Amino acid sequence: MEMRPIHNVLVAGGTGNIGPSIIQALVAANYTVSVLTRRVFISESLFGRTVRVIQTDYSLESLAPAVSGQDAVVSTLGLGAEKSQTNLLIAAAKSWSSNTRGVQRFIPSEFGIPNLDLRENPELARVLQPRIQFRHKMKDIVTKNPQLTYSGVFTRLWFDWCIKVGLLGFHLDTKSATIIDSGNETFKACDLATAGEAVAAILRKPTETANQYITISSHETTQNKILEELERYTGSDWTVMHRSGRELYAQAWESIQSGHNGWPAMLQAYFFMDRDVEKVPMDNQGSLDGNKLLGIGFCDLHTTITKLYT
Ligand SMILES: NC(=O)c1ccc[n+]([C@@H]2O[C@H](COP(=O)([O-])OP(=O)(O)OC[C@H]3O[C@@H](n4cnc5c(N)ncnc54)[C@H](OP(=O)(O)O)[C@@H]3O)[C@@H](O)[C@H]2O)c1
Repeated sequence: MEMRPIHNVLVAGGTGNIGPSIIQALVAANYTVSVLTRRVFISESLFGRTVRVIQTDYSLESLAPAVSGQDAVVSTLGLGAEKSQTNLLIAAAKSWSSNTRGVQRFIPSEFGIPNLDLRENPELARVLQPRIQFRHKMKDIVTKNPQLTYSGVFTRLWFDWCIKVGLLGFHLDTKSATIIDSGNETFKACDLATAGEAVAAILRKPTETANQYITISSHETTQNKILEELERYTGSDWTVMHRSGRELYAQAWESIQSGHNGWPAMLQAYFFMDRDVEKVPMDNQGSLDGNKLLGIGFCDLHTTITKLYT
């Protein structure tokens, strides 16, 4: 399907963790960017003067004028915002009823684990159920409204954000690390800036990326390589604790089932455990290789660590 070029982009939830990186990349790539927020007041300096801020309560009535004139809508809404995201999708589809140029691309709030085939990890599939259900709804709406298309973006863990919040297992303040199994399992992750760059690049290739999921990475490394780099950076040996990936995964799932927050531990086990211990599908699960398709290269670990901590 040949598509018209995308100029006007509406970003929902731009005040969150990944939103600002996506907005920054879109502005740098010369899109005309608007941001949707529930907040009544946002400082003009937050996104810069070129970005228009649109206030909404995510009702269909308030979303209709917000999506009018937009070529693409990017949702970066946080967990728990499924109802708002559904209304946003419906408003994008309805934008064609009163216009000859409605919204032609919807990017849902994924930006995490490739989840097109989680048969090997039914526990993860259970946790990600709202997201998977949204995908079914989105595909159904797009089938009924073929002028609207979608692109989903998988980033796996956000490398720079996760290292700072301790999700990669490293704590700079105490110079301590939790290494899963051998620590030699290779995993891919994506910096926030690279995720933003990918969104901008996807919208520049609307035809190739129509109705596709795309996986993007900025790093391919192991926990041991990160530890080595951090020890070099801090000039000292770190305290290392080892955990069994299989045990951690089981404990995390138990914790989730009893209503506690086992999600960070489940992610660590899923990404870092030795694959000969537990079969984990680490491939792109049928999504496109975004680095190849969009011409986005990998970052150097040494440079990233130095940039993060100086
Ligand atoms: N791969 C990773 O490592 C990783 C890490 C974290 C998150 N993620 C994923 O990335 C996506 C974005 O996450 P994030 O952490 O950037 O999001 P976030 O910071 O939690 O939320 C983003 C924005 O969404 C809006 N929002 C929140 N709840 C809402 C609701 N109920 N209704 C309407 N708007 C709501 C808020 O904007 P306003 O207040 O301005 O309206 C908020 O600033 C999610 O899909 C999340 O699962 C991935």
